[in-house]
Amino acid sequence: EPLYIITPTYRRPEQIPELTRMSHTLMLVKNIHWLVIEDAAVATKQVTRLLERTGLKFEHLTAPMPEKYKQKKGAKPRGVSNRNRGLQWIRANATNGVFYFADDDNTYDIALFDEIRKTKRVSMFPVGLCTKFGLSSPIIKNGKFVGFYDGWIAGRKFPVDMAGFAVSVKFLLQRPNATMPFKAGYEEDGFLKSLVPFEPKDIEFLADNCTKVLAWHTQTKKNEPSAPLNMKLYGETNLVKLKQ
Ligand code: UGA
Ligand code: MN
Repeated sequence: EPLYIITPTYRRPEQIPELTRMSHTLMLVKNIHWLVIEDAAVATKQVTRLLERTGLKFEHLTAPMPEKYKQKKGAKPRGVSNRNRGLQWIRANATNGVFYFADDDNTYDIALFDEIRKTKRVSMFPVGLCTKFGLSSPIIKNGKFVGFYDGWIAGRKFPVDMAGFAVSVKFLLQRPNATMPFKAGYEEDGFLKSLVPFEPKDIEFLADNCTKVLAWHTQTKKNEPSAPLNMKLYGETNLVKLKQ
């Protein structure tokens, strides 16, 4: 059965490097269908070319963040319009398998994808390098679920990271109203709460009862755009090439 990977992305100097790294991870996994959704009005050509080169089964979609959120000061609901577009695609095209929200800048162990395939309804697992605690994870004590470990609980029913859960397609299709809210910081919690009926007691715990970290919330430092050129040239050869 297919594993749908829903990846929000947006144009920035780091976009192609992030997607290159992520695609090379996914190329090592069987039966992946990659839904890459850009926060943009028009799809970026370089991204399409990259996706074509991977040989992966993919969809390249666009879903710009609504203007009213873009203009908001402070924390914005990043990747939400993209992920909801991905859910819309799944509702229209998928019948079975599992889906996973995988941001373009995280790091994934290929063993994660075999774990995720076991999901019957909703599964959860640890995410490393996440929040000030360095880890976000369900806590299993003596084989029993006792709560969540996360540096930012903030009144959430499901205080987990976007990379810390997977959902069965059939389970989603039985819940036509499930959606991700445009609420910065509460995207995961809001989406999981919209999967009614679904309670913490229904969670399936993966990665050896949440004892293994197979996904990391890595963040790439922001880079300056590459123009204008600033070069010190010795001799004319390079200069001639640049002028052409
Ligand atoms: C954290 C969480 O891990 C995200 O799942 C959550 O969406 C985000 O916070 C949030 O609530 O804002 P973080 O590393 O802080 O993630 O956020 P980014 O990696 O910058 O963005 C999350 C995803 O949205 C990425 O895949 C990114 O490419 C995409 N994004 C970001 C957009 O599509 N548009 C933007 O303007 C910014
Ligand atoms: Mn990120």
